[in-house]
Amino acid sequence: MLSSGIMDEDAGSMNRVFKSGAGAVVTKSIGIKPREGYLNPTAIELEHGIINAMGLPNPGINNFSDEIKTLKTLKIPVVGSIFGSNSREFVQLAEKMQEYGADAIELNMSCPHAKGYGLEIGSDPKLVKEITSNVKKSVKIPVFVKISPNLTNIVEIAKAAESAKADAVVAINTVKAMKIDLETKTPVLSNKIGGYSGKAIKPIGVRCVYEISKNIKTPVIGVGGITTGEDAIEYFMAGASAVQIGSAVYYRGIDSFKKICREIEKWMQKHNYKDLSELIGVAQI
Ligand code: DHB
Repeated sequence: MLSSGIMDEDAGSMNRVFKSGAGAVVTKSIGIKPREGYLNPTAIELEHGIINAMGLPNPGINNFSDEIKTLKTLKIPVVGSIFGSNSREFVQLAEKMQEYGADAIELNMSCPHAKGYGLEIGSDPKLVKEITSNVKKSVKIPVFVKISPNLTNIVEIAKAAESAKADAVVAINTVKAMKIDLETKTPVLSNKIGGYSGKAIKPIGVRCVYEISKNIKTPVIGVGGITTGEDAIEYFMAGASAVQIGSAVYYRGIDSFKKICREIEKWMQKHNYKDLSELIGVAQI
């Protein structure tokens, strides 16, 4: 799947990603009202990854209906990512995503820097359980809960999502980070603090997926720094039953999806694996 936040602001770009080999696309996180996001600079490439703080820019749920409807006309599996500041907002957003035709919902409980949203909610197991449970009661489509690596006890949050009957846990979102410019002696991002993605965070994601999938039965979707087929296989071995890919699009182009799928197949052939399910969780010792 295409992960949330990369080339997913409109149906046109998500269609391009789908045609380039993604099995499904996850939308940019959508909220109740339109938001412009933070001023630039909002994204910078560092030595081993990308740091960003966009500020949840989005057109608001009512202005997003055409994007989902277009994707459905094109028969593209779409996961609607949503963010809210409370259970009522999450429920309202999920109901609208379902009405527009989304195939699943991803609850963003992990944006590392937006006041009142994301991680501020996703670090409280009671809130995670309450919101997930209320969303589950309001929609029929599957509900994924995307959680943060910026937690002391990630398993506790994954368990809260599982106890609310989440259909999958998505791990991880970006890692809280900062870049300082030595000449200006100031943080580079306008929001100062951002989230780190790309190759550098893969070991963090693999560890989180391993810890989570060892402790819950709910499927885990792995995300964070997957750039090659071997990266994806590492996530499968850690326990992920599917993966999402984002920053790789920047490093290897839009056809990263096809390239990564081909690399997975090659690795499986070389090592005599016929079915991906044979690999899931094999490293859980
Ligand atoms: C943004 C960043 C995130 O990591 C996230 O989960 C959602 C939104 C952003 O800056 O827009």
